[in-house]
Amino acid sequence: MAIERTLLLCKPDAVSRGITGDIIARLERRGYLIIAMKMMQLDGERARKHYAEHAGKPFFDGLVKFITSGPLVAMCIEGESAIAGCRQLMGATDPLTAAPGSIRADYAQTIGRNLVHGSDSHESAERELQIFFQPADFVSRKHDLERWIFEK
Ligand code: RTP
Ligand code: MG
Repeated sequence: MAIERTLLLCKPDAVSRGITGDIIARLERRGYLIIAMKMMQLDGERARKHYAEHAGKPFFDGLVKFITSGPLVAMCIEGESAIAGCRQLMGATDPLTAAPGSIRADYAQTIGRNLVHGSDSHESAERELQIFFQPADFVSRKHDLERWIFEK
């Protein structure tokens, strides 16, 4: 158990469909803290860097094309075991196998338009957050952590 930071993206399909608010509401309802947030459109270079682990796979070019196709909302989420917790909220990669109640099961139909990205490990979170944010982009939610997250 540890307070973690993770990268959460509302991908271009989430922005286009107008459901970024629903996604953010689910994160906040869980008690996760947003400590950095920006809307931006990725260029190909940054998209390929972000998804470098998938380079060479059959879906890679389509994935890069999609993630650069429009604006996305990038967030750094902080909370207890936030990396696994956000992945749980998101649901499995394919909406058809995602748990009912998860974002992907509730809002998405196909693996290629699955609305959200979340870092899958500590190493990924650290690497990916640097792709999207500068140190000055982060705020401190120390008091909220103390009030709402830590158990006495
Ligand atoms: P993400 O990185 O976007 O959070 O998704 P993930 O960890 O659940 O899944 P990952 O294996 O990292 O795949 C990254 C994204 O590539 C697309 N994908 N398409 N057609 C396919 O077989 C396939 N497999 C993966 C998905 O959009 C997935 O989110
Ligand atoms: Mg992934």
